[in-house]
Amino acid sequence: MSDFGIYVHWPFCAAKCPYCDFNSHVRASFDESLWANAIVRELEWVKTAQGNAVPEVASVFFGGGTPSLMSGKSTATILDSIARLWPMTKGAEITLEANPASADAAHFRDYRSAGVNRVSLGVQALNDADLKFLGRLHDVAEAKAALKMAMAAFDRVSLDLIYARPRQTAKAWRAELAEALAFGTDHLSLYQLTIEPATPFATLAREGALVIPDDDSAAALFELTQEMSEAAGRPAYEISNHARPGQECRHNLIYWRYGDYAGVGPGAHGRLVLNGERVATAAERLPERWQEKVAREGHGYVELQRIGDSDAAREHLLMNLRLSEGFDLADYEARWAVSLDRSRIADLAETDLVRLEKGRLAATARGRLVLNSVIAALAA
Ligand SMILES: C[S@@+](CC[C@H](N)C(=O)[O-])C[C@H]1O[C@@H](n2cnc3c(N)ncnc32)[C@H](O)[C@@H]1O
Ligand code: SF4
Repeated sequence: MSDFGIYVHWPFCAAKCPYCDFNSHVRASFDESLWANAIVRELEWVKTAQGNAVPEVASVFFGGGTPSLMSGKSTATILDSIARLWPMTKGAEITLEANPASADAAHFRDYRSAGVNRVSLGVQALNDADLKFLGRLHDVAEAKAALKMAMAAFDRVSLDLIYARPRQTAKAWRAELAEALAFGTDHLSLYQLTIEPATPFATLAREGALVIPDDDSAAALFELTQEMSEAAGRPAYEISNHARPGQECRHNLIYWRYGDYAGVGPGAHGRLVLNGERVATAAERLPERWQEKVAREGHGYVELQRIGDSDAAREHLLMNLRLSEGFDLADYEARWAVSLDRSRIADLAETDLVRLEKGRLAATARGRLVLNSVIAALAA
């Protein structure tokens, strides 16, 4: 059985960043323990629905929203219930996403006592003007202080940066990324700014008030990112994720290797075997509505859909090709009883978009940049 992970979505943020379309909400006040208890109830529902096939938990990921707004107590309540419900892999990875604006040393110590052993910090930019533009509540000094505290409290720390910002030159990004790499975290998530529909940035972009780098400039920044992180010993193992070998985020590897994971909390998605069937789950996004549904039905899922083999084959391809390691083609074809057209693979290899070596098919860095068209060509 492949690794099994649990994603816990904490849907609240102190303020909404204008670029972000994650399921995050700002609330003046709420009773945190009610939310933690509702998450525990949903976990119990998932465990019961799994029936007799009880997988071992290799990873738990608190994502958001801003999980670092949670107390250590709520984190412990949730982790204790996971350990009560499932066997845990020894040394399981337990990650919590933190925002520098809500990070303090006491909080980090509480998370560590609760069982968290990895923190992912949303630094986003290393100059104050851009942090302001991104609507962040912290400045560079606060981000660096939070990073220092995180690195003192945890062996495994990752940081997020957003690049390809308006007017960002290669020279500026080179200097910023060099500084970020010099902090010495073993993992970095380096995302290109994307304009998500129905965000304030989408409105500004439509009005012409916000212009992101064109495709060629963004591709040049992507290439630079690959080269610099590789030279610094943290090569890309996924489109936007870079790590020292062995320090990849095990939780995200579960997604990209098309393993099973439960998603709990408002808006969370999951892919797992329930009562013997492979199922896609999606939860109600609005926190209050999700909580009412959990109180009524024991879970907040609005979608519990069986995934047929052909959909699973496509999803598997979509996820696995994000990884630089790719996947074993024969295993993939046997698992889903499909066959990928060898002449299409050869054509894509010819144009340096994929690589087929020792039976493993992988997208190249160039191919990962245009993954949707690579997948369309392969799955046609
Ligand atoms: C849930 S947040 C991380 C934790 C915390 N909420 C924070 O922002 O500090 C996930 C990450 O996705 C990235 N992200 C969100 N929206 C994005 C966008 N439109 N373009 C690029 N990256 C984005 C940011 O780097 C962010 O840190
Ligand atoms: S980027 Fe993070 S802090 Fe900002 S709105 Fe999204 S989830 Fe919240």
